[in-house]
Amino acid sequence: MAPLIAPSILSADFAHLADEAEAVRGADWLHVDVMDNHFVPNLTLGLPVVKSLLKATDIPIDCHLMITDPDRWAIGYAEAGAYNVTVHAEAAADPVAVAANLRAAGAKAGLSLKPGTPLDAWVEALRHYDTLLVMTVEPGFGGQAFMPDMMAKVRQARRLVDTGHLTVLVEVDGGISADTIEQAAEAGADCFVAGSAVYSAQDPAAAVAQLRATAARHRPAPPTPSQAGPA
Ligand code: DX5
Ligand code: ZN
Repeated sequence: MAPLIAPSILSADFAHLADEAEAVRGADWLHVDVMDNHFVPNLTLGLPVVKSLLKATDIPIDCHLMITDPDRWAIGYAEAGAYNVTVHAEAAADPVAVAANLRAAGAKAGLSLKPGTPLDAWVEALRHYDTLLVMTVEPGFGGQAFMPDMMAKVRQARRLVDTGHLTVLVEVDGGISADTIEQAAEAGADCFVAGSAVYSAQDPAAAVAQLRATAARHRPAPPTPSQAGPA
């Protein structure tokens, strides 16, 4: 599978979101950061804007919910037609139930870990999920510096997938650019969120294609048959 690139509209012009989605044609997913000013110290947009975006673009919508009480609110994004809905492990009261509800509503279910949240405690819950979002910055703002220390978590997730213990796509979010995507690709990420790197480019669609090509060149070789399969 080719690496997936998900431009984050957090770095786009919120007054022209339909045009900003068109500007990244060819992107695999469109990443939408929902922030509630409680779980993170920033406020962005919510379900009404996501519903409008769904009508304005054919790119699958990847909702990243940085909100408290996702057990209550996440389902609405799935019912509206988002392709993937990611909640934070630190915020969910019952992550297994959240995943089941998201899938029942027709969406992929994603679980996100803040930089300080280790993967180990969430492996069991992740058996119920389709995507794992490894934060490579503290959630809340675009344009922050990539945290290379998080590559250990990405490598751990990659190993769990390659050995058949998990079936999630491994997604990274925060500080991904032409300079940092190599590290994340080498660590084994499948999907790369990029906000400022895409939307500050002269040609955002070309930036998406370049990021995808760079990630493809730096992916680890697929596991050999003896490494793969449940232990
Ligand atoms: C941060 C958001 C990211 C953000 C990434 O809390 O989750 O999706 O948009 O922006 P960049 O790529 O600029 O770090
Ligand atoms: Zn995000």
